[in-house]
Amino acid sequence: MTLCRVIDLNRRHFLAGAGASVLAAGAPRLAHATPTGQRLVADEGRAVLTTGRGSLPVDAWSYGGSVPGPLLRYRRGERLDVTFENRLAEPSAVHWHGLRPPNGMDGAAPLTQAPVPPGETFRYAFDLDDAGTYWYHTHFRGWNQQDRGLYGVVIVDEETPPAVDRDLLLVLDDWVLTPAGTLSTDFGNMHEWSHAGRLGNLATINNAADADVPVAAGERIRLRLVNVANAQIFALMFDWHDPVIIAEDGNSVTPWALGADELLLGPGQRVDLIVDAVGAPSSRHAIRAYTLRDEVNMGAFVYADREGGTGLAGTEIAPLEGNARPSLDLAGARRLELRMEGGAMGGMGRAMMGGRMMGMRELMLHRRIWAFNGVAGDMDAPLASLKRGETVVVDIINDTAFPHAMHLHGMHFREIARNGAPIEDGAWRDTSLMASDDRVEIAFVAETPGRWMLHCHMIEHQAGGMMTFLEIEGDEA
Ligand code: C2O
Ligand code: CU
Repeated sequence: MTLCRVIDLNRRHFLAGAGASVLAAGAPRLAHATPTGQRLVADEGRAVLTTGRGSLPVDAWSYGGSVPGPLLRYRRGERLDVTFENRLAEPSAVHWHGLRPPNGMDGAAPLTQAPVPPGETFRYAFDLDDAGTYWYHTHFRGWNQQDRGLYGVVIVDEETPPAVDRDLLLVLDDWVLTPAGTLSTDFGNMHEWSHAGRLGNLATINNAADADVPVAAGERIRLRLVNVANAQIFALMFDWHDPVIIAEDGNSVTPWALGADELLLGPGQRVDLIVDAVGAPSSRHAIRAYTLRDEVNMGAFVYADREGGTGLAGTEIAPLEGNARPSLDLAGARRLELRMEGGAMGGMGRAMMGGRMMGMRELMLHRRIWAFNGVAGDMDAPLASLKRGETVVVDIINDTAFPHAMHLHGMHFREIARNGAPIEDGAWRDTSLMASDDRVEIAFVAETPGRWMLHCHMIEHQAGGMMTFLEIEGDEA
Protein backbone atom coordinates (compact mmCIF):
# COMPACT_ATOMS: atom_id res chain seq x y z
CA MET A 1 0.00 0.00 0.00
CA THR A 2 2.82 2.43 -0.60
CA LEU A 3 0.56 4.52 -2.80
CA CYS A 4 -1.88 5.08 -0.04
CA ARG A 5 0.49 6.20 2.64
CA VAL A 6 0.08 9.82 1.75
CA ILE A 7 -3.64 10.08 2.35
CA ASP A 8 -5.22 9.01 5.57
CA LEU A 9 -8.66 8.04 4.43
CA ASN A 10 -9.82 7.31 7.91
CA ARG A 11 -9.85 10.84 9.20
CA ARG A 12 -12.81 11.94 11.19
CA HIS A 13 -14.55 13.98 8.55
CA PHE A 14 -14.33 11.18 6.11
CA LEU A 15 -17.56 10.08 7.71
CA ALA A 16 -19.34 13.37 7.68
CA GLY A 17 -18.87 13.15 5.00
CA ALA A 18 1.37 29.19 -11.03
CA GLY A 19 0.16 32.09 -11.39
CA ALA A 20 -2.73 31.43 -13.69
CA SER A 21 -5.95 32.79 -12.37
CA VAL A 22 -8.68 30.22 -12.14
CA LEU A 23 -10.86 32.66 -13.97
CA ALA A 24 -8.51 32.76 -16.91
CA ALA A 25 -7.29 29.22 -17.19
CA GLY A 26 -10.10 27.44 -18.91
CA ALA A 27 -12.41 28.25 -16.06
CA PRO A 28 -15.99 28.36 -17.04
CA ARG A 29 -17.65 31.65 -16.18
CA LEU A 30 -20.48 31.27 -13.80
CA ALA A 31 -23.02 33.38 -15.61
CA HIS A 32 -26.51 31.96 -15.91
CA ALA A 33 -26.60 31.74 -19.64
CA THR A 34 -27.38 28.30 -20.87
CA PRO A 35 -29.54 28.33 -23.93
CA THR A 36 -31.87 25.41 -24.48
CA GLY A 37 -31.22 23.19 -27.44
CA GLN A 38 -27.49 23.32 -26.83
CA ARG A 39 -25.10 21.33 -29.00
CA LEU A 40 -22.24 19.50 -27.37
CA VAL A 41 -19.57 18.45 -29.82
CA ALA A 42 -16.89 15.97 -28.84
CA ASP A 43 -13.75 16.31 -30.89
CA GLU A 44 -10.01 16.03 -30.75
CA GLY A 45 -8.26 19.23 -29.84
CA ARG A 46 -6.08 20.78 -27.23
CA ALA A 47 -6.07 21.70 -23.63
CA VAL A 48 -3.71 24.40 -22.48
CA LEU A 49 -2.25 23.58 -19.11
CA THR A 50 -0.47 26.18 -17.05
CA THR A 51 2.55 24.82 -15.28
CA GLY A 52 5.28 26.44 -13.25
CA ARG A 53 7.23 26.76 -16.48
CA GLY A 54 4.56 28.47 -18.51
CA SER A 55 1.74 27.31 -20.65
CA LEU A 56 1.73 23.86 -22.07
CA PRO A 57 -0.66 22.86 -24.84
CA VAL A 58 -1.38 19.14 -24.79
CA ASP A 59 -3.34 16.98 -27.20
CA ALA A 60 -6.71 16.45 -25.60
CA TRP A 61 -10.23 15.46 -26.50
CA SER A 62 -12.89 17.89 -25.52
CA TYR A 63 -16.49 18.97 -25.59
CA GLY A 64 -17.00 22.21 -27.42
CA GLY A 65 -13.28 22.80 -27.94
CA SER A 66 -12.42 23.40 -24.29
CA VAL A 67 -11.33 21.33 -21.32
CA PRO A 68 -13.42 21.30 -19.19
CA GLY A 69 -16.27 21.43 -21.70
CA PRO A 70 -18.83 24.23 -21.61
CA LEU A 71 -20.42 24.92 -18.27
CA LEU A 72 -24.08 23.98 -18.44
CA ARG A 73 -25.99 26.10 -15.98
CA TYR A 74 -29.67 25.97 -15.19
CA ARG A 75 -32.20 26.74 -12.50
CA ARG A 76 -33.91 23.94 -10.63
CA GLY A 77 -36.99 22.89 -12.57
CA GLU A 78 -35.56 23.74 -15.96
CA ARG A 79 -34.95 21.18 -18.65
CA LEU A 80 -31.59 20.04 -19.92
CA ASP A 81 -31.71 19.64 -23.68
CA VAL A 82 -28.36 18.84 -25.22
CA THR A 83 -27.65 17.29 -28.58
CA PHE A 84 -24.40 15.42 -28.40
CA GLU A 85 -22.43 15.20 -31.63
CA ASN A 86 -19.59 12.73 -31.87
CA ARG A 87 -16.75 13.95 -34.08
CA LEU A 88 -14.27 11.55 -32.54
CA ALA A 89 -12.93 8.59 -34.46
CA GLU A 90 -14.50 6.19 -31.95
CA PRO A 91 -17.94 5.76 -30.34
CA SER A 92 -18.84 7.74 -27.24
CA ALA A 93 -21.75 8.68 -24.94
CA VAL A 94 -22.41 11.33 -22.30
CA HIS A 95 -23.28 10.50 -18.69
CA TRP A 96 -24.81 13.12 -16.39
CA HIS A 97 -23.10 12.31 -13.13
CA GLY A 98 -25.34 12.86 -10.12
CA LEU A 99 -28.35 14.02 -12.09
CA ARG A 100 -31.38 11.73 -12.10
CA PRO A 101 -32.64 11.41 -15.66
CA PRO A 102 -34.89 8.66 -16.99
CA ASN A 103 -32.80 5.58 -17.67
CA GLY A 104 -32.60 6.07 -21.43
CA MET A 105 -30.93 9.47 -20.91
CA ASP A 106 -28.28 8.20 -18.49
CA GLY A 107 -25.59 7.74 -21.12
CA ALA A 108 -24.15 4.57 -19.60
CA ALA A 109 -23.21 2.95 -22.89
CA PRO A 110 -23.74 0.17 -23.75
CA LEU A 111 -26.12 -0.59 -20.84
CA THR A 112 -28.65 2.21 -21.33
CA GLN A 113 -28.00 3.19 -24.94
CA ALA A 114 -25.85 2.13 -27.83
CA PRO A 115 -22.66 4.18 -27.95
CA VAL A 116 -22.97 7.01 -30.44
CA PRO A 117 -20.89 6.15 -33.53
CA PRO A 118 -18.49 8.65 -35.05
CA GLY A 119 -20.34 11.27 -37.05
CA GLU A 120 -23.66 10.71 -35.32
CA THR A 121 -25.70 12.54 -32.73
CA PHE A 122 -27.83 11.76 -29.68
CA ARG A 123 -30.25 14.11 -27.97
CA TYR A 124 -30.26 14.10 -24.19
CA ALA A 125 -33.31 15.84 -22.72
CA PHE A 126 -34.71 15.63 -19.21
CA ASP A 127 -36.02 17.78 -16.36
CA LEU A 128 -33.66 18.97 -13.66
CA ASP A 129 -35.33 18.34 -10.32
CA ASP A 130 -32.23 18.77 -8.20
CA ALA A 131 -30.18 21.87 -7.51
CA GLY A 132 -26.47 21.49 -6.96
CA THR A 133 -23.06 20.98 -8.50
CA TYR A 134 -22.94 18.07 -10.94
CA TRP A 135 -20.86 17.09 -13.93
CA TYR A 136 -20.96 15.28 -17.21
CA HIS A 137 -18.41 13.01 -18.77
CA THR A 138 -17.96 10.34 -21.39
CA HIS A 139 -19.17 6.92 -20.33
CA PHE A 140 -17.47 4.90 -23.00
CA ARG A 141 -13.81 3.86 -22.79
CA GLY A 142 -13.54 6.47 -20.07
CA TRP A 143 -10.09 5.24 -19.09
CA ASN A 144 -9.04 6.78 -22.37
CA GLN A 145 -11.72 9.36 -23.25
CA GLN A 146 -12.26 10.91 -19.84
CA ASP A 147 -8.57 11.11 -19.13
CA ARG A 148 -8.07 13.02 -22.39
CA GLY A 149 -10.53 15.67 -21.28
CA LEU A 150 -14.09 14.66 -22.10
CA TYR A 151 -15.86 16.17 -19.11
CA GLY A 152 -17.61 19.35 -18.03
CA VAL A 153 -19.68 20.76 -15.20
CA VAL A 154 -23.44 21.15 -14.73
CA ILE A 155 -24.66 23.66 -12.16
CA VAL A 156 -28.31 23.75 -11.22
CA ASP A 157 -29.09 26.83 -9.17
CA GLU A 158 -31.35 26.89 -6.17
CA GLU A 159 -34.37 29.17 -6.42
CA THR A 160 -32.74 31.29 -3.74
CA PRO A 161 -28.99 30.71 -3.79
CA PRO A 162 -27.06 31.70 -0.67
CA ALA A 163 -25.82 35.26 -0.62
CA VAL A 164 -22.13 35.32 -1.50
CA ASP A 165 -19.71 37.79 -3.04
CA ARG A 166 -18.23 35.25 -5.45
CA ASP A 167 -19.25 31.86 -6.74
CA LEU A 168 -16.16 30.03 -8.02
CA LEU A 169 -15.84 26.70 -9.75
CA LEU A 170 -12.67 24.69 -9.16
CA VAL A 171 -12.29 21.62 -11.37
CA LEU A 172 -9.64 19.29 -10.00
CA ASP A 173 -7.80 16.96 -12.32
CA ASP A 174 -4.44 15.38 -12.68
CA TRP A 175 -2.51 14.67 -15.84
CA VAL A 176 0.09 12.09 -16.74
CA LEU A 177 2.73 14.04 -18.62
CA THR A 178 5.75 12.56 -20.33
CA PRO A 179 9.21 14.09 -19.75
CA ALA A 180 8.73 15.82 -23.12
CA GLY A 181 5.62 17.53 -21.77
CA THR A 182 3.04 15.66 -23.80
CA LEU A 183 0.02 13.84 -22.44
CA SER A 184 1.03 10.24 -21.94
CA THR A 185 -1.11 7.97 -24.10
CA ASP A 186 -0.14 4.85 -22.21
CA PHE A 187 -3.81 4.33 -21.34
CA GLY A 188 -4.04 0.57 -21.09
CA ASN A 189 -1.15 0.33 -18.60
CA MET A 190 -1.86 -2.84 -16.61
CA HIS A 191 0.13 -1.63 -13.63
CA GLU A 192 -2.22 1.33 -13.30
CA TRP A 193 -5.28 -0.85 -13.80
CA SER A 194 -4.28 -3.31 -11.11
CA HIS A 195 -3.07 -0.70 -8.62
CA ALA A 196 -4.60 2.67 -7.71
CA GLY A 197 -5.59 3.61 -11.28
CA ARG A 198 -4.12 6.28 -13.51
CA LEU A 199 -2.52 8.82 -11.21
CA GLY A 200 -1.14 11.97 -12.78
CA ASN A 201 2.12 13.74 -12.16
CA LEU A 202 0.61 17.21 -12.62
CA ALA A 203 -2.37 18.13 -10.47
CA THR A 204 -4.41 21.08 -11.69
CA ILE A 205 -7.28 23.33 -10.78
CA ASN A 206 -9.02 24.54 -13.93
CA ASN A 207 -5.98 23.34 -15.91
CA ALA A 208 -3.48 25.32 -13.87
CA ALA A 209 -0.90 23.85 -11.55
CA ASP A 210 -0.68 26.18 -8.59
CA ALA A 211 -3.74 28.14 -9.64
CA ASP A 212 -4.53 31.60 -8.37
CA VAL A 213 -7.95 31.87 -6.79
CA PRO A 214 -8.71 35.59 -6.68
CA VAL A 215 -10.39 36.93 -3.55
CA ALA A 216 -10.65 40.16 -1.65
CA ALA A 217 -10.40 40.48 2.09
CA GLY A 218 -13.83 40.47 3.67
CA GLU A 219 -15.60 38.57 0.92
CA ARG A 220 -17.79 35.54 1.34
CA ILE A 221 -17.10 32.98 -1.39
CA ARG A 222 -18.91 29.90 -2.54
CA LEU A 223 -16.41 27.38 -3.87
CA ARG A 224 -17.62 24.46 -5.92
CA LEU A 225 -15.07 21.68 -6.15
CA VAL A 226 -15.39 18.87 -8.68
CA ASN A 227 -12.95 15.98 -8.88
CA VAL A 228 -12.83 14.86 -12.52
CA ALA A 229 -9.61 12.85 -12.24
CA ASN A 230 -9.69 9.24 -13.38
CA ALA A 231 -8.43 7.88 -10.09
CA GLN A 232 -6.88 10.56 -7.93
CA ILE A 233 -8.08 11.41 -4.44
CA PHE A 234 -7.39 14.90 -3.14
CA ALA A 235 -7.13 15.66 0.58
CA LEU A 236 -7.24 19.45 0.56
CA MET A 237 -5.93 21.97 3.08
CA PHE A 238 -6.85 25.64 3.04
CA ASP A 239 -4.15 27.36 5.06
CA TRP A 240 -5.83 29.30 7.82
CA HIS A 241 -9.18 29.56 6.11
CA ASP A 242 -11.96 27.53 7.61
CA PRO A 243 -14.27 26.33 4.87
CA VAL A 244 -17.81 25.38 5.79
CA ILE A 245 -19.25 22.46 3.86
CA ILE A 246 -22.76 23.22 2.59
CA ALA A 247 -23.26 20.47 0.00
CA GLU A 248 -21.80 17.08 -0.86
CA ASP A 249 -22.37 15.60 -4.32
CA GLY A 250 -24.85 18.41 -4.95
CA ASN A 251 -26.94 17.68 -1.87
CA SER A 252 -27.44 20.17 0.90
CA VAL A 253 -25.96 19.23 4.29
CA THR A 254 -26.25 20.85 7.68
CA PRO A 255 -23.33 23.27 7.35
CA TRP A 256 -20.23 22.00 9.13
CA ALA A 257 -16.80 23.55 9.47
CA LEU A 258 -13.78 21.64 8.24
CA GLY A 259 -11.62 22.82 11.12
CA ALA A 260 -8.14 21.33 11.18
CA ASP A 261 -9.05 18.38 9.00
CA GLU A 262 -8.38 17.78 5.35
CA LEU A 263 -11.21 17.85 2.88
CA LEU A 264 -11.34 14.56 1.05
CA LEU A 265 -12.58 14.43 -2.50
CA GLY A 266 -12.61 11.14 -4.39
CA PRO A 267 -13.06 10.72 -8.14
CA GLY A 268 -16.52 11.87 -9.21
CA GLN A 269 -17.30 13.61 -5.92
CA ARG A 270 -18.20 17.27 -5.49
CA VAL A 271 -18.35 19.58 -2.55
CA ASP A 272 -19.73 23.10 -2.13
CA LEU A 273 -18.01 25.28 0.42
CA ILE A 274 -18.50 28.67 1.95
CA VAL A 275 -15.16 30.35 2.55
CA ASP A 276 -14.90 33.70 4.26
CA ALA A 277 -11.83 35.58 3.08
CA VAL A 278 -10.18 36.30 6.40
CA GLY A 279 -6.72 37.05 5.02
CA ALA A 280 -5.18 40.47 4.70
CA PRO A 281 -5.13 42.50 1.49
CA SER A 282 -2.26 41.46 -0.80
CA SER A 283 -1.67 38.22 1.09
CA ARG A 284 -1.45 34.78 -0.42
CA HIS A 285 -2.68 31.56 1.22
CA ALA A 286 -1.79 28.22 -0.27
CA ILE A 287 -4.30 25.53 -1.12
CA ARG A 288 -2.40 22.30 -0.70
CA ALA A 289 -3.37 18.67 -1.08
CA TYR A 290 -2.18 15.24 -0.26
CA THR A 291 -2.83 12.92 -3.14
CA LEU A 292 -2.23 9.20 -3.58
CA ARG A 293 1.25 10.10 -4.85
CA ASP A 294 2.47 13.39 -3.46
CA GLU A 295 1.88 16.43 -1.42
CA VAL A 296 1.12 19.17 -3.93
CA ASN A 297 0.52 22.87 -4.12
CA MET A 298 -2.82 23.07 -5.86
CA GLY A 299 -3.12 26.82 -5.80
CA ALA A 300 -3.62 29.78 -3.53
CA PHE A 301 -6.14 32.33 -2.44
CA VAL A 302 -4.60 35.46 -3.88
CA TYR A 303 -5.87 38.56 -2.14
CA ALA A 304 -6.50 41.81 -3.93
CA ASP A 305 -4.70 44.83 -2.54
CA ARG A 306 -7.90 46.30 -1.18
CA GLU A 307 -10.79 44.98 0.81
CA GLY A 308 -14.00 43.88 -0.77
CA GLY A 309 -17.24 42.18 0.03
CA THR A 310 -20.60 43.33 1.17
CA GLY A 311 -20.43 42.50 4.84
CA LEU A 312 -21.51 38.88 4.46
CA ALA A 313 -18.31 37.33 5.81
CA GLY A 314 -18.70 36.21 9.39
CA THR A 315 -22.48 36.11 9.28
CA GLU A 316 -24.39 32.91 9.89
CA ILE A 317 -24.37 30.28 7.16
CA ALA A 318 -27.82 28.91 6.47
CA PRO A 319 -28.34 25.49 4.90
CA LEU A 320 -29.01 25.41 1.17
CA GLU A 321 -32.50 24.77 -0.10
CA GLY A 322 -32.36 20.99 -0.21
CA ASN A 323 -33.52 18.64 -2.91
CA ALA A 324 -36.54 16.45 -2.33
CA ARG A 325 -35.34 13.02 -1.27
CA PRO A 326 -37.47 9.99 -0.49
CA SER A 327 -37.68 8.67 3.03
CA LEU A 328 -35.84 5.47 3.74
CA ASP A 329 -37.58 2.49 5.25
CA LEU A 330 -34.51 1.01 6.88
CA ALA A 331 -36.42 -1.50 8.98
CA GLY A 332 -38.11 -3.01 5.95
CA ALA A 333 -35.16 -2.62 3.61
CA ARG A 334 -33.95 -5.25 1.25
CA ARG A 335 -30.30 -6.02 1.98
CA LEU A 336 -27.64 -6.76 -0.62
CA GLU A 337 -23.99 -7.50 -0.14
CA LEU A 338 -21.29 -6.37 -2.50
CA ARG A 339 -17.79 -7.64 -1.88
CA MET A 340 -15.01 -5.90 -3.79
CA GLU A 341 -12.04 -8.09 -4.58
CA GLY A 342 -8.94 -8.25 -6.71
CA GLY A 343 -6.18 -5.92 -7.77
CA ALA A 344 -2.54 -6.08 -6.84
CA MET A 345 -1.92 -7.54 -3.40
CA GLY A 346 -5.57 -8.56 -3.25
CA GLY A 347 -5.05 -12.30 -3.42
CA MET A 348 -7.99 -12.91 -5.77
CA GLY A 349 -7.40 -16.31 -7.36
CA ARG A 350 -10.30 -16.53 -9.75
CA ALA A 351 -13.57 -14.93 -10.80
CA MET A 352 -16.44 -15.38 -13.18
CA MET A 353 -16.24 -13.80 -16.58
CA GLY A 354 -18.50 -14.43 -19.56
CA GLY A 355 -20.33 -17.10 -17.61
CA ARG A 356 -17.17 -19.08 -16.89
CA MET A 357 -14.83 -19.33 -13.92
CA MET A 358 -11.37 -18.13 -14.86
CA GLY A 359 -8.06 -18.08 -13.09
CA MET A 360 -6.17 -14.83 -12.58
CA ARG A 361 -3.87 -15.47 -15.52
CA GLU A 362 -6.74 -15.85 -17.94
CA LEU A 363 -8.62 -12.93 -16.41
CA MET A 364 -5.59 -10.73 -16.96
CA LEU A 365 -5.56 -11.61 -20.62
CA HIS A 366 -9.03 -10.08 -20.71
CA ARG A 367 -7.84 -7.14 -18.62
CA ARG A 368 -10.17 -8.08 -15.76
CA ILE A 369 -8.39 -7.94 -12.45
CA TRP A 370 -11.17 -6.83 -10.12
CA ALA A 371 -14.49 -8.40 -9.18
CA PHE A 372 -17.75 -7.77 -7.35
CA ASN A 373 -19.08 -10.86 -5.58
CA GLY A 374 -16.75 -13.03 -7.61
CA VAL A 375 -17.85 -11.65 -10.98
CA ALA A 376 -15.34 -9.66 -13.01
CA GLY A 377 -17.33 -6.92 -14.68
CA ASP A 378 -19.87 -9.01 -16.53
CA MET A 379 -22.82 -6.81 -17.32
CA ASP A 380 -25.25 -9.45 -18.51
CA ALA A 381 -27.08 -9.98 -15.21
CA PRO A 382 -27.99 -7.39 -12.59
CA LEU A 383 -26.69 -7.53 -9.05
CA ALA A 384 -30.39 -7.53 -8.11
CA SER A 385 -33.81 -6.80 -9.55
CA LEU A 386 -35.62 -4.28 -7.40
CA LYS A 387 -39.20 -3.25 -6.97
CA ARG A 388 -40.00 0.34 -7.52
CA GLY A 389 -40.32 2.17 -4.22
CA GLU A 390 -38.48 -0.34 -2.06
CA THR A 391 -35.64 0.69 0.20
CA VAL A 392 -32.38 -1.07 -0.51
CA VAL A 393 -29.30 -1.34 1.65
CA VAL A 394 -26.08 -2.35 -0.06
CA ASP A 395 -23.38 -3.51 2.30
CA ILE A 396 -20.18 -2.78 0.40
CA ILE A 397 -17.07 -4.55 1.62
CA ASN A 398 -13.72 -3.39 0.31
CA ASP A 399 -11.66 -6.52 0.46
CA THR A 400 -8.81 -5.01 -1.57
CA ALA A 401 -5.60 -3.15 -0.83
CA PHE A 402 -6.82 0.07 -2.48
CA PRO A 403 -9.31 2.84 -1.89
CA HIS A 404 -12.33 3.00 -4.18
CA ALA A 405 -15.03 5.53 -5.02
CA MET A 406 -18.33 3.71 -5.45
CA HIS A 407 -20.83 5.48 -7.67
CA LEU A 408 -24.51 4.69 -8.16
CA HIS A 409 -26.30 5.99 -11.23
CA GLY A 410 -29.81 7.36 -11.22
CA MET A 411 -30.39 7.69 -7.48
CA HIS A 412 -28.72 9.19 -4.49
CA PHE A 413 -27.99 7.18 -1.38
CA ARG A 414 -27.14 7.81 2.21
CA GLU A 415 -24.18 6.24 3.91
CA ILE A 416 -25.80 4.70 6.98
CA ALA A 417 -22.85 2.86 8.52
CA ARG A 418 -19.10 2.68 8.16
CA ASN A 419 -17.11 -0.16 9.64
CA GLY A 420 -20.00 -1.08 11.90
CA ALA A 421 -20.53 2.41 13.28
CA PRO A 422 -23.92 3.85 12.37
CA ILE A 423 -23.92 7.24 10.69
CA GLU A 424 -26.79 9.39 11.87
CA ASP A 425 -28.06 11.82 9.34
CA GLY A 426 -25.41 11.06 6.71
CA ALA A 427 -25.43 13.21 3.60
CA TRP A 428 -27.16 12.11 0.42
CA ARG A 429 -24.47 11.30 -2.08
CA ASP A 430 -23.91 9.63 -5.41
CA THR A 431 -20.33 8.57 -4.81
CA SER A 432 -18.88 7.04 -1.65
CA LEU A 433 -15.17 7.01 -0.94
CA MET A 434 -13.92 3.88 0.76
CA ALA A 435 -10.51 3.19 2.23
CA SER A 436 -8.88 -0.20 1.89
CA ASP A 437 -10.72 -2.68 4.13
CA ASP A 438 -13.61 -0.28 4.73
CA ARG A 439 -17.13 -1.59 4.94
CA VAL A 440 -19.84 0.91 4.09
CA GLU A 441 -23.58 0.46 4.08
CA ILE A 442 -25.49 2.67 1.69
CA ALA A 443 -29.27 3.00 1.55
CA PHE A 444 -31.52 4.34 -1.16
CA VAL A 445 -35.02 4.06 -2.52
CA ALA A 446 -35.36 2.30 -5.86
CA GLU A 447 -37.05 5.25 -7.52
CA THR A 448 -36.64 5.14 -11.23
CA PRO A 449 -37.22 2.14 -13.50
CA GLY A 450 -34.37 0.91 -15.62
CA ARG A 451 -30.84 -0.38 -15.35
CA TRP A 452 -28.55 1.66 -13.18
CA MET A 453 -24.83 1.15 -12.96
CA LEU A 454 -23.02 0.73 -9.68
CA HIS A 455 -19.28 0.92 -10.18
CA CYS A 456 -15.98 2.17 -8.93
CA HIS A 457 -15.24 5.65 -10.27
CA MET A 458 -11.56 4.95 -10.46
CA ILE A 459 -12.10 4.42 -14.15
CA GLU A 460 -9.33 1.86 -14.55
CA HIS A 461 -10.92 -0.23 -11.79
CA GLN A 462 -14.31 0.02 -13.42
CA ALA A 463 -12.93 -1.10 -16.77
CA GLY A 464 -10.96 -3.82 -14.99
CA GLY A 465 -14.05 -5.46 -13.52
CA MET A 466 -15.49 -3.24 -10.79
CA MET A 467 -18.88 -2.70 -12.30
CA THR A 468 -22.37 -4.06 -12.03
CA PHE A 469 -25.90 -2.74 -12.26
CA LEU A 470 -29.23 -2.77 -10.49
CA GLU A 471 -32.44 -3.28 -12.34
CA ILE A 472 -35.59 -1.51 -11.20
CA GLU A 473 -38.86 -2.85 -12.44
CA GLY A 474 -41.45 -0.69 -14.09
CA ASP A 475 -42.05 1.30 -17.21
CA GLU A 476 -39.51 3.88 -18.10
CA ALA A 477 -40.68 7.42 -18.31
CU1 C2O B 1 -19.45 9.51 -13.27
CU2 C2O B 1 -20.74 5.72 -14.25
O1 C2O B 1 -20.06 7.65 -13.82
CU1 CU C 1 -11.63 1.41 -7.43
